[in-house]
Amino acid sequence: MTLEEIWPLFALRIRCGPLELAPVRDDDVAALVDLAQGGIHDPAVMPFMFPWTDAEGDELARNMALHYWQSRGAFTRQRWGVELVVRRDGVVVGVQAVGTRNYLVTKTGETGSWLGLEHQGRGTGTLMRQMLCAFLFDHLDAEEITSGAFLDNPASMAVSMKVGYRANGATRESRRGGELALLRRLVLRASDLVRPLDPLEVEGLDAVRPLLGLD
Ligand SMILES: CC(C)(COP(=O)(O)OP(=O)(O)OC[C@H]1O[C@@H](n2cnc3c(N)ncnc32)[C@H](O)[C@@H]1OP(=O)(O)O)[C@@H](O)C(=O)NCCC(=O)NCCS
Repeated sequence: MTLEEIWPLFALRIRCGPLELAPVRDDDVAALVDLAQGGIHDPAVMPFMFPWTDAEGDELARNMALHYWQSRGAFTRQRWGVELVVRRDGVVVGVQAVGTRNYLVTKTGETGSWLGLEHQGRGTGTLMRQMLCAFLFDHLDAEEITSGAFLDNPASMAVSMKVGYRANGATRESRRGGELALLRRLVLRASDLVRPLDPLEVEGLDAVRPLLGLD
């Protein structure tokens, strides 16, 4: 068997316009580490619930590798997530992720994403989220998609609004282990999705659905 036959997510490709999303493989980790070490956000603010970008150098690199391995290794039908490496015109620019719990019942996924600083502000964050949401609704039978953004993260909020998410309350969180921060909760229904202008091309879906228990 090939590795793609053993682990069908490795054969999944989602393409639209200049972007391609593909589950992170070990070969992608070095490029993602280079991007993260080059900066993802102003260090004075923390956009992530888990402040993984506070680590630096070798520690950041090892933590990222462990995160991608853990995400794959912890896969169960009751709790799975997929981290997709985003390429724009063939260049690695960031990650678009989805996490789920009891997906066969909830049909809900929570999205999260990041881009290297030099790749932000060109519409990539919006398109990669539109692609993942269209894929989840059209090909994985999703019924609802959620996300969250701290109130001081206008870029993430703007992307969610452009894609069609609606505000769904806020939670009080402890950020960086000590500071109170409000996390805006967001929810997207299929009928509200603002679809990408170009058609979505999906490769490798047939073996992914049974892996998730959908067929
Ligand atoms: C969030 C993120 C993925 C968005 O990607 P992106 O490619 O920059 O997003 P886009 O270019 O598609 O859209 C960004 C929107 O935010 C808006 N925006 C950016 N900074 C803003 C600010 N300070 N105030 C108001 N709006 C702002 C832009 O104007 C744009 O909206 P527009 O197209 O209507 O003008 C990216 O900024 C990122 O990686 N940020 C750091 C990590 C992060 O915050 N991840 C999300 C955690 S919830």
